[in-house]
Amino acid sequence: MNLCIIGCGNMGLIYSRFFTEQQIVKKENLLLIEKNDERREELKQKNIGNIEVATCKQIESSDVILIAVKPQDYKELAQLIKGRLNKNAIVISIMAGITIADLETSLAHNLVVRAMPNAPALYAKGMTVYCLNNGFDKAQQEQVAKLLAVTGKIQAIEKEELLDAVTALSGSGPAYFFYLAQQMIKAAQQVGMDAEMAEVLVKQTLVGAAEMLDKSDKTTAELITTVASRGGTTEAALTHFALKEMDQAVIVGIEKATNRSKELAQNN
Ligand SMILES: NC(=O)c1ccc[n+]([C@@H]2O[C@H](COP(=O)([O-])OP(=O)(O)OC[C@H]3O[C@@H](n4cnc5c(N)ncnc54)[C@H](OP(=O)(O)O)[C@@H]3O)[C@@H](O)[C@H]2O)c1
Repeated sequence: MNLCIIGCGNMGLIYSRFFTEQQIVKKENLLLIEKNDERREELKQKNIGNIEVATCKQIESSDVILIAVKPQDYKELAQLIKGRLNKNAIVISIMAGITIADLETSLAHNLVVRAMPNAPALYAKGMTVYCLNNGFDKAQQEQVAKLLAVTGKIQAIEKEELLDAVTALSGSGPAYFFYLAQQMIKAAQQVGMDAEMAEVLVKQTLVGAAEMLDKSDKTTAELITTVASRGGTTEAALTHFALKEMDQAVIVGIEKATNRSKELAQNN
């Protein structure tokens, strides 16, 4: 299989590293197309695959093409590669807000996948939700699943519209978690802890709690009651969070992120 990644910034680099490390593709069959001179130099040093400038000269021989440029750079790229793809090539886009219909039309191509990974892909702990268009047979569907699973968990969906909610939840979700960590560190300092110690405690608490959430059979409500006893310290904080309607703030925030994702897709 010849695999090509167009745009080897943060995300493209993660995929290229995992594709070779997990022996999905041989280094000599991996083509990295990158516009940025400095980035290309970095890629050369890393020695992960063949590197090409943004002319996409060798695109015809690719069986799989992963597009990882920023959405605003896509129009120009599509004009460059339209009509040059192998008819059976699978195109996987991880670009936010570029729809399946956009991809089909702009590339005049029938085998396209729209995927939404998230930042923990960096540690192979990502969550990728993806949607295929109608052209895929069973073997091709399995191939897509295998490729996307290099960065963590995957979930295929049939309704593309759900990708706005996915973007708001798993796409943006890591930032919500970092925000909580940031507020806990600030709070720790308010109650007399130094910043360094607060950071150690908060990081380990959140990592440990995330592990419990993942490994335990208990629901989130049950997990809360395992920590919070009646009249205790945890309850004092949780009662205040409820009073301040933190639940509503989270719900409305995620609704706003979903709506923003829809707006951005319309502007592309
Ligand atoms: N980062 C995330 O957590 C995340 C999560 C989900 C989805 N995504 C999606 O992933 C995509 C990439 O994000 P990123 O954070 O990896 O962006 P990035 O670091 O900016 O990487 C994109 C790279 O593509 C290069 N490029 C632009 N046009 C090109 C072309 N025509 N041919 C070859 N290379 C080209 C850019 O060069 P220049 O810098 O010179 O423009 C840049 O080096 C985006 O569409 C984003 O929506 C990202």
